[in-house]
Amino acid sequence: METLSSALNPNSDEFKANAEHNRALASELKKRLVLVRQGGGEKYRQRHEEQGKLFVRERIERLLDPGAPFLELSPLAAGDMYRGEAPGAGIVTGIGRVSNREVVIVANDATVKGGSYFSMTVKKHLRAQQIAEENHLPCLYLVDSGGAFLPLQDEVFPDAHHFGRIFYNQARMSAKRIPQIAAVMGNCTAGGAYVPAMSDEAIIVKGAGTIFLGGPPLVKAATGEDVTAEELGGADVHTRKSGVADHFAEDDDHAIEILRSIVETLPRGSLQSNLSALDVAPPEEPLYAPEELYGVLPRTFKESYDVHEIIARLVDGSKFREFKARYGTTLICGFARIHGYPFGAGNYAMAGRAYGSRFLWMWPNARISVMGGEQAANVLLTIKQDQLIREGKPALSQEEADEFKRPLLEKYETEGSPYHSSARLWDDGVIAPDETRQVLGLALSIVLNSPKEEGGFGVFRM
Ligand code: COA
Repeated sequence: METLSSALNPNSDEFKANAEHNRALASELKKRLVLVRQGGGEKYRQRHEEQGKLFVRERIERLLDPGAPFLELSPLAAGDMYRGEAPGAGIVTGIGRVSNREVVIVANDATVKGGSYFSMTVKKHLRAQQIAEENHLPCLYLVDSGGAFLPLQDEVFPDAHHFGRIFYNQARMSAKRIPQIAAVMGNCTAGGAYVPAMSDEAIIVKGAGTIFLGGPPLVKAATGEDVTAEELGGADVHTRKSGVADHFAEDDDHAIEILRSIVETLPRGSLQSNLSALDVAPPEEPLYAPEELYGVLPRTFKESYDVHEIIARLVDGSKFREFKARYGTTLICGFARIHGYPFGAGNYAMAGRAYGSRFLWMWPNARISVMGGEQAANVLLTIKQDQLIREGKPALSQEEADEFKRPLLEKYETEGSPYHSSARLWDDGVIAPDETRQVLGLALSIVLNSPKEEGGFGVFRM
């Protein structure tokens, strides 16, 4: 395999200016991530602590094997939506290693509107389940949710890919032998209650966890009875009387301990056979530092760059066997390894969400829209001018034309942003360029869990 060589000079002014520009974009990403990790804000964090509960990320941290990475998905979901009231869409999802097994974790953040579900919360939960199903990963639900976000019920409840889909997915995955396990760590009302009820095994925390379709206020309204949350659907009721939950936990830490022990005894999937069928090599660092990616990427989309320079900073040993190097030279295809895994040929343009790619991330400098704003505005301007001429009216002056184009340019500028995309779950997150190798390595490890599919296209040419 050929070792790529770099023609870049890290001491050049161009490289330094690129690096400064792209590092600023990465540090904006980091700032956004820090902010979103504060959840619903101080008032709600205090209330959460008063209830003796761990914060959502503390729960995940304690659940994961010590030192294991957590591949968080779409942390910036719902970013500019719902007047900023749902940071991260009020739910944390991702893939991590628990009891030496890769699992999907779906955990409500009760500091964000009681962990209730906005439309993007549902979408993020469903996306995590899709990843679990495609890659045969057990699902661990850390449930702490007031169900549907009531003011927006028509966006989360009635349609096919709304709340009900979560439970439908649980039933289907369970039937496919993809384990569904829930730990009830807070008040779980209505939709929040279905998740543990539809799980293969459920744990509930004493004093904090409750499961009911309607809480005490609804009981009062419907029957006039006064009842406490604990009496109606607490840990004792559900582990001793109703049987909805299987394990009684003293506190969050105890629930996590039980959850880890359940995962430990799950039957193993197809990971071992996939690994042995695959020619996995010992991982090698690239010859060129991934941090240099900041200097490779140009500052605007008007400048082009050699994508070999990117590949050289992502793949093992910077080794790349290129396919059809002389043909269609604006598209680079080839073979390489990342963290020892081989991954074959691919191209970007037709690997978007519509093509069902297993994962999709964006860099902070990326833009996504059907075309550039300038091009879209000019297309519509041409149509407008032609219309006016056809109708015998005077064409727009330069000033009028600029005014006509302005709102569209602004719209494309906003909507092309990776943060606009990530807020709406059009991708699985925005990542810094120098994290890419790590993220891709984790993703390749994750997809090996799925059983091998028969058939497919094999090799074909057009
Ligand atoms: N829809 C909309 N907002 C909700 C909500 C829901 N399902 N559940 C909670 N919230 C909001 C509250 O209005 C409050 O917002 P605010 O501070 O802006 O007024 C915030 O979440 C925190 O709620 P609060 O009741 O103060 O927190 P808590 O920790 O004491 O209790 C719950 C959390 C979830 C147990 C409680 O809010 C509750 O019972 N919610 C209603 C659950 C329900 O009936 N859901 C039916 C869904 S179909």
